[in-house]
Amino acid sequence: VRRTRFTDLLGCELPFQQAPMGGGLATPALACSVADAGGIGMLSSVRLPRAALEAAIEAVPAPLRARVGVNVIVPFLDPEGLELASASVGLVDFSYGPPDPGLVAAAHAGGARVSWQVGSPAAARAAADAGCDLVVAQGVEAGGHLEGRTSLPVLLGAVLDCVQIPVVAAGGIGTGREAAAVLGAGADGVRLGTRFLAAAEAAPHPEYLAALIAADGGDTERTSLFGAMWPGPPLAHRVLRSCVAAAEADDRDVIGSRDMLGTTIEIPRFAAPAPNTATTGAIAAMALYAGTSVSAVRRVQPAAEIVAELARDAEQALAARTPELSTAGR
Ligand SMILES: Cc1cc2nc3c(=O)[nH]c(=O)nc-3n(C[C@H](O)[C@H](O)[C@H](O)COP(=O)(O)O)c2cc1C
Repeated sequence: VRRTRFTDLLGCELPFQQAPMGGGLATPALACSVADAGGIGMLSSVRLPRAALEAAIEAVPAPLRARVGVNVIVPFLDPEGLELASASVGLVDFSYGPPDPGLVAAAHAGGARVSWQVGSPAAARAAADAGCDLVVAQGVEAGGHLEGRTSLPVLLGAVLDCVQIPVVAAGGIGTGREAAAVLGAGADGVRLGTRFLAAAEAAPHPEYLAALIAADGGDTERTSLFGAMWPGPPLAHRVLRSCVAAAEADDRDVIGSRDMLGTTIEIPRFAAPAPNTATTGAIAAMALYAGTSVSAVRRVQPAAEIVAELARDAEQALAARTPELSTAGR
């Protein structure tokens, strides 16, 4: 697709970013494939002790690290992990907490670019004022935890109107055509989570993956049900509607377990962690995060193929809308 302020700032070829997906869903292999295919790949630091974060970063070949980022969920902040990430990868990305100039400065001190995911124009302004290099505008269509309640087209316009820094659009985008729409509206980059959850390199539990493939966007719901194991005040999230019904129907306190870095932890009912390949139990009743973009999840594909398809389809959609462009090549 075209060059944008996002590709210039981060030194990548394509304005696509794989969303961070914590809890072992977005693997280092996924981030590497996306970065290698021309986009920006993201690692999660959530619940990772320093040694485990170090191992995740070391799994990314050194030449790719500039095009890989580490996400920090503010209520889970570990200052040591932040220090390590900011000195090791090209981008540190914060979410689910108010923009904080001290955290932005700490991430800049290590040499990384800094982004903040926001759900309102006021938070976008706060991110720019805090010194961020870019801001991610997350619409309510997004899978996972939600920064706000505004739909992406409305939020994107309002954020573009109030900040000068590059803006990445996130939430409900699954196809190249949808990516073209936000790029055409002025976004500098596009972040996709749910679509990359069905990449061959990602690690959702097979039952979660099958549910994603079977669902479409109308099968998702905004809820605050899955609040256990989330630090701080509850935060709304978008999940497949089927898991809300299954969790409500299951009256046990503990519905499964998962291996986490060699220890087995119990998963209570209504817990925030989504089921990954190391999870057992009542998978259908766990938090099955999905954006309305789940409509675009039809099969498992290598991440590089997803990136190439997004680029090709976005290119076609942009060209079809711009007659001068589509005739220029003839
Ligand atoms: C399964 C899943 C896990 C997520 N985990 C995180 C996370 O750990 N940190 C974060 O900042 N955002 C997380 N998100 C939200 C993404 O950053 C992004 O806003 C969202 O995926 C965009 O919507 P989409 O899923 O429709 O593409 C997650 C999203 C999903 C679907």
